[in-house]
Amino acid sequence: MPDKKIIAVLGATGAQGGGLVRAILADPDGGFAARALTRDVNSAKAKELAKLGAEVVAADVDNPETLKKAFAGAYGAFCVTFFWAHFSPEKEMANAQSMAQAAKAAGLKHVIWSTLEDTRKWVPLNDDRMPTLQGKYKVPHFDAKGASNHFFTDEGVPTTFLLTAFYWDNFIYFGMGPKKGPDGQLAVTIPMGDKKLPGIAAEDIGKCAYGIFKNPKEFVNTTVAISGENLTGAQLAATFTDVLGKPVRYNDIPPEVYRSFGFPGADDLGNMFQFKRDFADDYCGARNPSFALTLNPALQDFKTWLTRNKNAIPLE
Ligand SMILES: NC(=O)c1ccc[n+]([C@@H]2O[C@H](COP(=O)([O-])OP(=O)(O)OC[C@H]3O[C@@H](n4cnc5c(N)ncnc54)[C@H](OP(=O)(O)O)[C@@H]3O)[C@@H](O)[C@H]2O)c1
Repeated sequence: MPDKKIIAVLGATGAQGGGLVRAILADPDGGFAARALTRDVNSAKAKELAKLGAEVVAADVDNPETLKKAFAGAYGAFCVTFFWAHFSPEKEMANAQSMAQAAKAAGLKHVIWSTLEDTRKWVPLNDDRMPTLQGKYKVPHFDAKGASNHFFTDEGVPTTFLLTAFYWDNFIYFGMGPKKGPDGQLAVTIPMGDKKLPGIAAEDIGKCAYGIFKNPKEFVNTTVAISGENLTGAQLAATFTDVLGKPVRYNDIPPEVYRSFGFPGADDLGNMFQFKRDFADDYCGARNPSFALTLNPALQDFKTWLTRNKNAIPLE
């Protein structure tokens, strides 16, 4: 263990970080050890990670001193923020800055920052094709991440900027799965027009991150974009139909209708889909599943993921 390179993993009990911790532990001869960071070392999920062989250490991204302690002695860190826990871009940026400062203080050799595009580079605030949200953002949960990249470069932290993609797990946990319409038929509702939505199994993000940590020479100080497969709404619906064995159609709606759905964050997600639709050449073009496969040979395409997870998808 002592000669292994320790990776401190934020969000270790969650989707992205959990995938990375499991990937490290599944490769005992890989030269890395997993330090799983959590606010509650006694939670069932934390105990499960300890049982699998992770070192479990307390850290709260809202408390920078705990981050510094948790990063000390590590070789690298996986940094991710938790927008949907608080809906605050300012908090997300403050948390990212604390992570970068803690990484610098610990002298880390390689950090992966799980980021997304600052959409304001494509849609400036005065562009009224989509509303400005929270005063100064177009897609708050994207913009705050992209606007935080510089914290890592400012601190001189050797960083890989990892552009992630839409989790297919949102069809299970985020209420985005197929729902019955007034006609009684199942439909998947995504305002993507005929453009492709890059998607990925959440656990594959962590596996890709592991591939990045294994190859620092290639990936330190670079930006890497991943997806499991890029599919149109019609292609997603066709795969649902095939795997679920019942008809699922694609319900293409305008982004403004999605924004009006009223659930917390509907406006943010409506803008997000519009950004992905209107700038598909850049957004989808950057995310190449063949490249992600080189990082993670077990990368799933949508049909594989859906076949494994179909029973977890709540169908009304
Ligand atoms: N859903 C998508 O399609 C998608 C796609 C791309 C990017 N993202 C981004 O992914 C990020 C979230 O990552 P995720 O999905 O891996 O998270 P997640 O599954 O929701 O898990 C988050 C974990 O982070 C921990 N956590 C929460 N608040 C914390 C805090 N204050 N300090 C330390 N740990 C804390 C929690 O662990 P403990 O309770 O054990 O502390 C929790 O288990 C969001 O910012 C989102 O924008 C989402």
